[in-house]
Amino acid sequence: MNITIKENIGKAFSKFIGDDAYQIKNTLKIFEIIYDTGPSHISSVFNKDFCTYESVNILPPSDELIINTKTTYDIIIFVNLTDKNISLNKIFVQLLSALNDDGYFFLVTGNHKNNNTSPTPSEISNLSKLNHSRIVDHWFEKRGKDNEVYSIIRKTTNKNGWDGKPELELRHSLLDIPTHLSGPISPASEEEEKTRGKIPYLSFFDHIHKKISPQNYLEIGIRHGRSLAQAKCPSIGIDPTPDIKVTLENTIIYPNTSDDFFENIAPNILKNNRDLIFIDGMHLFEYALRDFINCELYSHESTLIIIDDIFPCHPRQALRKRDSQVWTGDVWKLIPCLKHYRPDLAMIAVDTSPTGLLLIINTSCENQTLNYEYNEIIDNFIYKQDPEPPESIISRQGIIDPDNNSLNILLNSISNGSIKSDQACKIIEELKLK
Ligand SMILES: C[S@@+](CC[C@H](N)C(=O)[O-])C[C@H]1O[C@@H](n2cnc3c(N)ncnc32)[C@H](O)[C@@H]1O
Repeated sequence: MNITIKENIGKAFSKFIGDDAYQIKNTLKIFEIIYDTGPSHISSVFNKDFCTYESVNILPPSDELIINTKTTYDIIIFVNLTDKNISLNKIFVQLLSALNDDGYFFLVTGNHKNNNTSPTPSEISNLSKLNHSRIVDHWFEKRGKDNEVYSIIRKTTNKNGWDGKPELELRHSLLDIPTHLSGPISPASEEEEKTRGKIPYLSFFDHIHKKISPQNYLEIGIRHGRSLAQAKCPSIGIDPTPDIKVTLENTIIYPNTSDDFFENIAPNILKNNRDLIFIDGMHLFEYALRDFINCELYSHESTLIIIDDIFPCHPRQALRKRDSQVWTGDVWKLIPCLKHYRPDLAMIAVDTSPTGLLLIINTSCENQTLNYEYNEIIDNFIYKQDPEPPESIISRQGIIDPDNNSLNILLNSISNGSIKSDQACKIIEELKLK
């Protein structure tokens, strides 16, 4: 399954149409042209009661599309990554004639840099102009092997530019609303809500800040600002719905999702790489993975990245759909994922309450493995199998005491930039999760 296509089409749908579409029309008619055999990757995006979804399969190298032109559609989608001998022009004309005047054409093509039969972005733009339409959004997917190019196209009524009906207001939120903010959750049993740990995670954070005195700090998921308040250096906090209850100094808060922050804000403001990063945003594996991928891009040799919610104390706490007060979601999957795909990273698990912390060192801002394997990773860890946390996670196998002496020596090495020294390497070998 191509997860990035599904995510991007979902993102385009929220951005251009949103869930208020039923206020504009009673039903939204969606049509997908599947250029190859196999099921659609994206039909579930339109699994909404105000959408109808139809599709047709055409087989390469055919460009003879059979589209019932008596019916017109609000959204037409064509995903063509391989582009074997297809006449995009011929298809363009057919598809635009089946598109309602205020409709959207979502075109997904291969990255012509990886695949020289794919059209370049300017070829798509010229094709649109020739067909009295224009590109209203155009982006490139960095993750995965296909590096798809997305073009969102609308019809124009005159050749000088858009003068049709007003466009729907652009939506800010690009991804789903966090599920754990969507209403009260009734408590599960005492056993299912139990937590444990040698010391509270906030005390450990206080200790970390004192030991490594970072020059800068970045936190994803800040809620009341309690962990953010432990930082004494210039700090950045990211949270779509911050609800600050403490005094924060020297801190800039971005009320955005982390995906939005990294896509639109970070490239302009994060000039230096970060010393200390805490990932505690959306408690779902794919979000934590993306947060890690994005944070690692802004890391240096001695950066310490800490991840919360890595050790659920009961399988119920680890459900992807929240069903208990204590909720770690499936963030724990980062451990087997990073062990498999990034054996070069060192992961050290620390026994804090309520749900443990994972310290990650040896990051590399140049390593693209997780980005490249993104589709396969999500497919393997969520879609093909969605396992319960194994006993090794529930029993916190390999976790170390927050007072561990070697850990304190390692924190000194992080602080004085000697993380690559023989002594630090030996300690990492001793402490890391095997
Ligand atoms: C457990 S709370 C953070 C607690 C805080 N780190 C502390 O220890 O004091 C998780 C926060 O993540 C935020 N969150 C949810 N989805 C997010 C996303 N996509 N990006 C960034 N933050 C998100 C929520 O709004 C919530 O405030």
